[in-house]
Amino acid sequence: MSVKISEKALDHVIDDMVEVVENSKDEIFNISEEARREHDHLVLELKETKEKVLQHIENGDKLEERVRFSRKRLAEVSKYFERYSEEDIREVYENTHLMQTNLAILRQEEKALRDKRDELERRLITLTHTINRAEGLAGKISVILNYLQDDFRQVNEMIENAKEKQEFGLKIIEAQEDERRKISREIHDGPAQMLANILLRSEIVERTIRNGSMDEAISEIKSVRKMVRSSLYEVRRIIYDLRPMALDDLGLVPTMKKYVDSISDYNNIPTEFSIIGEEKRLNSKYEVAFFRLMQESIQNAIKHSEASQIQVKLEIRRNSLTMVIKDNGKGFDVSKKKDKSFGLIGMRERVEMLEGELHIQSSLGKGTAIIIKVPY
Ligand SMILES: Nc1ncnc2c1ncn2[C@@H]1O[C@H](COP(=O)(O)OP(=O)(O)OP(=O)(O)O)[C@@H](O)[C@H]1O
Ligand SMILES: [Mg+2]
Repeated sequence: MSVKISEKALDHVIDDMVEVVENSKDEIFNISEEARREHDHLVLELKETKEKVLQHIENGDKLEERVRFSRKRLAEVSKYFERYSEEDIREVYENTHLMQTNLAILRQEEKALRDKRDELERRLITLTHTINRAEGLAGKISVILNYLQDDFRQVNEMIENAKEKQEFGLKIIEAQEDERRKISREIHDGPAQMLANILLRSEIVERTIRNGSMDEAISEIKSVRKMVRSSLYEVRRIIYDLRPMALDDLGLVPTMKKYVDSISDYNNIPTEFSIIGEEKRLNSKYEVAFFRLMQESIQNAIKHSEASQIQVKLEIRRNSLTMVIKDNGKGFDVSKKKDKSFGLIGMRERVEMLEGELHIQSSLGKGTAIIIKVPY
């Protein structure tokens, strides 16, 4: 699998998306504010209209009462018309008529007001819906923003990690090849050459014996023996580098002790090893992992830290294994990742495989501590 999107490019895309979504959020906010203003305005208008409707009903009722009264009077005037002048009758008649007309107008206005009131109420309901929807949308957009800002960046990180792992895999293959080359060279230059030499010398010994010079033969045999011994030493060193047999034979703790001693001697850096808890054999998967983790941590301290002291602490508990490798060197910026550096990545990988945790505490000038905790 090839990961083509680089972290930077993806960050850019996310930033753009965040901007667009943020603008939309502002727009929705504006829409919702406008709707709210309109809503408040409508509420006021509705209140006024309702008051007017009440006023009209009241006025209408009063007027109706007066019309009724006026009509009664008109009936009376009409019945006893001999008692009233023509003038009086017309006045009553016209008055009644006028009031009836006014009442009709009033009732019509009242109906118009009622219609307006109903319309306002309908618009208010729609507007409330709009406001609610805008608010819901704003909430959803906030969720999207969160996704973009947190979860999406996490995806970004995951892609970056995947890329790192892929590079790590390639590095492993490369390292394997390097290791084979190194071993074949070491065997070629060391034991193989020595064996060839020994073969040659043994022929010389044979010839010397045939010639009867025993003393010379004995001294030759002594030098052959020396050569055999150093070949043996070389072969053992190569084997140890490949995988300390002590790890399988004696277990983690003695092998670690041996390693720390030899490395301390060789590099002239006091290196301390201490163990807490019961010293016992562990599942070989864990023994190998912890040995390699310690090896890489110490190698790093020696290679990079310029420390004058290194400490290794191993704690074996019933349910967990903890190891701390500490140096008093110059420290480094943990957040900065180096290209072509795979030691720490490999360590994380190993710890992850054992479902454990690895923490690095380091600050410039204050040394480094690698803390590894693995459930067991
Ligand atoms: N104990 C330490 N003190 C100071 N710097 C350190 C220490 N451990 C690691 N570093 C820094 O972190 C970097 C990464 O370490 P890492 O082991 O991943 O790679 P490396 O040692 O450079 O190469 P590799 O392990 O692949 O041969 C180192 O190059 C070094 O700068
Ligand atoms: Mg390293």
